[in-house]
Amino acid sequence: MGYHATTGKIAPRKPPAMPLTPINAPFPATRLRRLRRMPALRGLAAENTLSVNDLIWPIFVMEGEDDAYPIPSMPGVSRLTLDRAVDAAKEARGLGIPAICIFPYIEPSLKTDDCALAWSPDNLSNRVTAAIKSAVPEVAVMTDVALDPYNASGHDGIVRDGVIVNDESVEALVKMALAQAAAGADILGPSDMMDGRIGAMRGALQAGGFQDVAILSYAAKYASAFYGPFRDAVGASGALTGDKKTYQMNPANSDEALRLVARDLAEGADMVMVKPGLPYLDICRRVKDQFGAPTYAYQVSGEYAMIAGAGANGWIDEEKVMMESLIAFKRAGCDGILTYFAPRAAKLLGA
Ligand code: PBG
Repeated sequence: MGYHATTGKIAPRKPPAMPLTPINAPFPATRLRRLRRMPALRGLAAENTLSVNDLIWPIFVMEGEDDAYPIPSMPGVSRLTLDRAVDAAKEARGLGIPAICIFPYIEPSLKTDDCALAWSPDNLSNRVTAAIKSAVPEVAVMTDVALDPYNASGHDGIVRDGVIVNDESVEALVKMALAQAAAGADILGPSDMMDGRIGAMRGALQAGGFQDVAILSYAAKYASAFYGPFRDAVGASGALTGDKKTYQMNPANSDEALRLVARDLAEGADMVMVKPGLPYLDICRRVKDQFGAPTYAYQVSGEYAMIAGAGANGWIDEEKVMMESLIAFKRAGCDGILTYFAPRAAKLLGA
């Protein structure tokens, strides 16, 4: 069932699940509350579990030393200097979090139209990657492959006459991917949504001796207002001209997500992502059922801000909502979740 790597074909959808009614004896023989009576029985009957192994922790990094800058729209999250990022990776190791994902804050004066800093071997992101890999090699480092932090226009691709040009952007992204692989990245996360980038990167990685670097494709990435706080965090809010609707997906679409995932797997992605997370759990479920590939969701900055913001106001029990939101991803078929809650969730899971 699912996607066949050898033929490139997609198997037909699963038939609908058998209706549950016939296997239930009528009340009072069947009382579904019996297995909810006590924690032990609820534990035995649990269909899904969340573990630290399911977590990828996104962090924001900035230049400087021994410093952190709190992001106003993401209470509890700060941009970290390189040394503090290494501390975060050590914390991840201590908590058993398998992977950390790096997003750089780039000074506005360093942003250009050609985005050349994106593939500089010693840019901030690559220095942080190398530092983490030398201090904490057990923690997998994931990087973001997209031009937006480096782009004067704030877009993920190169802009020519107001158009985000696809093929030229892919060439730039491939250079960026190679520089990240050379810095020691374990997982590349192309979040740019250009067509053809996965195949181009996979080919270049193979040719460059980086055949074991994994690609977690942001395959079904929607043009979402839930990214607002992230753009504050990486300093892209002010820079962005227009919106990203010519390359990110229309939130109205679902079948298109399956075509994108099929395409990215066929081009050499090892893992695929749906983004944002909670508002798109229907997509996660369809992707997992259809392809059976390692499937991840990104609980994005706006989702984090809603939970952390309401929690800070005392409107919800933040910890409980956090854990409930994370198990929802597992229930929807995800193998893992990128979440800013990763260290807090890991602490609760380890307790
Ligand atoms: C940019 C990128 C974005 C996010 C991850 N990579 C924002 C965007 O597409 O504008 C969003 C993550 C979040 O909101 O937490 N390539």
